[in-house]
Amino acid sequence: MKNLIPTAFLLLLSSFSHSQDITFSSDQVEQGNEIYVQHCQICHGTNLDNGQFATPIKGFFFEMNWGGRTLGELARFTWEEMPEGNGKLLNVEEYIATVAFILSKNNIEASDTPMSEDFDALDGIMLPF
Ligand code: HEC
Repeated sequence: MKNLIPTAFLLLLSSFSHSQDITFSSDQVEQGNEIYVQHCQICHGTNLDNGQFATPIKGFFFEMNWGGRTLGELARFTWEEMPEGNGKLLNVEEYIATVAFILSKNNIEASDTPMSEDFDALDGIMLPF
Protein backbone atom coordinates (compact mmCIF):
# COMPACT_ATOMS: atom_id res chain seq x y z
CA MET A 1 0.00 0.00 0.00
CA LYS A 2 2.84 2.33 0.90
CA ASN A 3 4.32 2.08 -2.60
CA LEU A 4 1.07 2.72 -4.37
CA ILE A 5 1.19 6.51 -4.43
CA PRO A 6 4.71 6.89 -5.87
CA THR A 7 3.88 4.21 -8.45
CA ALA A 8 0.72 6.02 -9.49
CA PHE A 9 2.68 9.25 -9.70
CA LEU A 10 5.31 7.67 -11.95
CA LEU A 11 2.63 6.17 -14.17
CA LEU A 12 1.02 9.59 -14.47
CA LEU A 13 4.34 11.19 -15.38
CA SER A 14 5.12 8.58 -18.00
CA SER A 15 1.69 8.97 -19.56
CA PHE A 16 2.60 12.61 -20.22
CA SER A 17 6.12 12.08 -21.44
CA HIS A 18 5.44 9.08 -23.66
CA SER A 19 2.88 10.62 -25.95
CA GLN A 20 3.19 8.60 -29.14
CA ASP A 21 4.36 10.07 -32.41
CA ILE A 22 2.10 10.40 -35.40
CA THR A 23 2.86 7.86 -38.10
CA PHE A 24 1.40 7.20 -41.52
CA SER A 25 2.71 5.59 -44.69
CA SER A 26 3.26 7.15 -48.10
CA ASP A 27 0.70 4.64 -49.49
CA GLN A 28 -1.90 6.17 -47.17
CA VAL A 29 -0.93 9.66 -48.34
CA GLU A 30 -1.32 8.59 -51.97
CA GLN A 31 -4.73 6.99 -51.37
CA GLY A 32 -5.80 10.01 -49.31
CA ASN A 33 -4.75 12.36 -52.10
CA GLU A 34 -7.07 10.57 -54.55
CA ILE A 35 -9.97 10.65 -52.10
CA TYR A 36 -9.32 14.30 -51.35
CA VAL A 37 -9.51 15.22 -55.05
CA GLN A 38 -12.78 13.29 -55.45
CA HIS A 39 -14.60 14.22 -52.26
CA CYS A 40 -13.03 17.18 -50.49
CA GLN A 41 -11.37 19.50 -52.97
CA ILE A 42 -14.63 21.00 -54.19
CA CYS A 43 -14.99 22.81 -50.84
CA HIS A 44 -11.49 22.88 -49.37
CA GLY A 45 -9.72 23.88 -52.59
CA THR A 46 -6.87 22.46 -54.66
CA ASN A 47 -4.36 23.68 -52.08
CA LEU A 48 -6.30 22.79 -48.88
CA ASP A 49 -6.45 26.45 -47.91
CA ASN A 50 -8.03 28.03 -50.95
CA GLY A 51 -11.55 26.60 -50.86
CA GLN A 52 -14.51 28.92 -51.18
CA PHE A 53 -16.83 26.75 -49.15
CA ALA A 54 -14.77 25.56 -46.21
CA THR A 55 -12.20 26.45 -43.59
CA PRO A 56 -8.51 25.87 -44.43
CA ILE A 57 -7.17 22.43 -43.47
CA LYS A 58 -3.57 23.48 -43.82
CA GLY A 59 -1.43 26.13 -42.18
CA PHE A 60 -1.85 28.57 -39.31
CA PHE A 61 -5.64 28.61 -38.96
CA PHE A 62 -5.93 24.83 -39.04
CA GLU A 63 -3.04 24.30 -36.65
CA MET A 64 -4.43 26.88 -34.20
CA ASN A 65 -7.76 25.11 -34.29
CA TRP A 66 -6.37 21.63 -33.66
CA GLY A 67 -3.28 22.31 -31.57
CA GLY A 68 -3.42 20.56 -28.19
CA ARG A 69 -6.06 18.11 -29.44
CA THR A 70 -5.60 14.46 -30.35
CA LEU A 71 -5.32 12.69 -33.67
CA GLY A 72 -8.37 10.67 -32.58
CA GLU A 73 -10.47 13.85 -32.35
CA LEU A 74 -9.41 14.98 -35.82
CA ALA A 75 -10.01 11.53 -37.34
CA ARG A 76 -13.45 11.17 -35.70
CA PHE A 77 -14.51 14.69 -36.69
CA THR A 78 -13.54 14.01 -40.30
CA TRP A 79 -15.31 10.64 -40.31
CA GLU A 80 -18.50 11.91 -38.66
CA GLU A 81 -18.83 15.33 -40.31
CA MET A 82 -17.07 15.28 -43.71
CA PRO A 83 -17.90 15.76 -46.54
CA GLU A 84 -20.03 18.36 -44.79
CA GLY A 85 -23.61 17.12 -44.40
CA ASN A 86 -22.59 13.69 -45.67
CA GLY A 87 -20.43 12.17 -42.91
CA LYS A 88 -19.46 8.49 -42.91
CA LEU A 89 -19.77 8.43 -46.70
CA LEU A 90 -16.50 6.53 -47.09
CA ASN A 91 -15.12 3.63 -45.10
CA VAL A 92 -12.87 4.19 -42.10
CA GLU A 93 -9.74 3.12 -43.98
CA GLU A 94 -10.40 5.85 -46.55
CA TYR A 95 -10.94 8.51 -43.88
CA ILE A 96 -7.70 7.56 -42.15
CA ALA A 97 -5.84 7.81 -45.46
CA THR A 98 -7.36 11.25 -46.06
CA VAL A 99 -6.29 12.42 -42.59
CA ALA A 100 -2.76 11.15 -43.38
CA PHE A 101 -2.84 13.17 -46.60
CA ILE A 102 -3.95 16.33 -44.71
CA LEU A 103 -1.20 15.89 -42.11
CA SER A 104 1.41 15.40 -44.85
CA LYS A 105 0.32 18.79 -46.23
CA ASN A 106 0.92 20.22 -42.76
CA ASN A 107 4.58 19.23 -42.95
CA ILE A 108 4.46 15.92 -41.10
CA GLU A 109 6.60 13.27 -42.77
CA ALA A 110 5.37 9.83 -43.83
CA SER A 111 7.20 6.81 -42.41
CA ASP A 112 7.16 3.00 -42.66
CA THR A 113 4.47 2.65 -39.99
CA PRO A 114 0.93 3.19 -41.26
CA MET A 115 -1.59 5.16 -39.22
CA SER A 116 -3.87 2.91 -37.18
CA GLU A 117 -7.49 2.60 -38.30
CA ASP A 118 -8.61 2.26 -34.67
CA PHE A 119 -9.98 5.58 -33.37
CA ASP A 120 -9.33 4.58 -29.74
CA ALA A 121 -5.64 4.07 -30.49
CA LEU A 122 -5.50 7.48 -32.19
CA ASP A 123 -6.94 9.11 -29.03
CA GLY A 124 -3.56 8.48 -27.38
CA ILE A 125 -1.67 10.56 -29.94
CA MET A 126 -1.39 14.34 -29.63
CA LEU A 127 -1.32 16.52 -32.72
CA PRO A 128 2.07 18.26 -32.80
CA PHE A 129 0.87 21.79 -33.58
C1 HEC B 1 -19.64 20.64 -49.01
C2 HEC B 1 -18.37 21.25 -48.63
C3 HEC B 1 -17.35 20.37 -47.94
C4 HEC B 1 -16.82 19.18 -48.39
C5 HEC B 1 -17.11 18.44 -49.70
C6 HEC B 1 -15.84 18.79 -47.39
N1 HEC B 1 -15.78 19.69 -46.38
FE1 HEC B 1 -14.52 19.65 -44.75
N2 HEC B 1 -15.40 21.33 -44.04
C7 HEC B 1 -16.41 22.05 -44.64
C8 HEC B 1 -16.81 23.15 -43.80
C9 HEC B 1 -17.90 24.17 -44.08
C10 HEC B 1 -16.00 23.05 -42.62
C11 HEC B 1 -16.05 23.90 -41.36
C12 HEC B 1 -17.21 23.34 -40.55
C13 HEC B 1 -16.91 23.03 -39.14
O1 HEC B 1 -15.81 23.32 -38.64
O2 HEC B 1 -17.80 22.41 -38.51
C14 HEC B 1 -15.11 21.91 -42.82
C15 HEC B 1 -14.16 21.51 -41.92
C16 HEC B 1 -13.27 20.46 -42.10
C17 HEC B 1 -12.21 20.10 -41.19
C18 HEC B 1 -11.88 20.82 -39.90
C19 HEC B 1 -11.21 22.14 -40.25
C20 HEC B 1 -10.94 22.99 -39.05
O3 HEC B 1 -10.12 23.91 -39.18
O4 HEC B 1 -11.48 22.78 -37.98
C21 HEC B 1 -11.58 19.03 -41.73
C22 HEC B 1 -10.36 18.29 -41.17
C23 HEC B 1 -12.25 18.70 -42.94
N3 HEC B 1 -13.27 19.60 -43.16
C24 HEC B 1 -11.90 17.64 -43.77
C25 HEC B 1 -12.62 17.29 -44.92
C26 HEC B 1 -12.34 16.11 -45.69
C27 HEC B 1 -11.24 15.10 -45.39
C28 HEC B 1 -13.24 16.08 -46.72
C29 HEC B 1 -13.41 15.02 -47.79
C30 HEC B 1 -13.66 13.67 -47.30
C31 HEC B 1 -14.07 17.28 -46.59
N4 HEC B 1 -13.67 17.97 -45.49
C32 HEC B 1 -15.09 17.61 -47.48
C33 HEC B 1 -16.97 21.80 -45.90
C34 HEC B 1 -16.69 20.69 -46.67
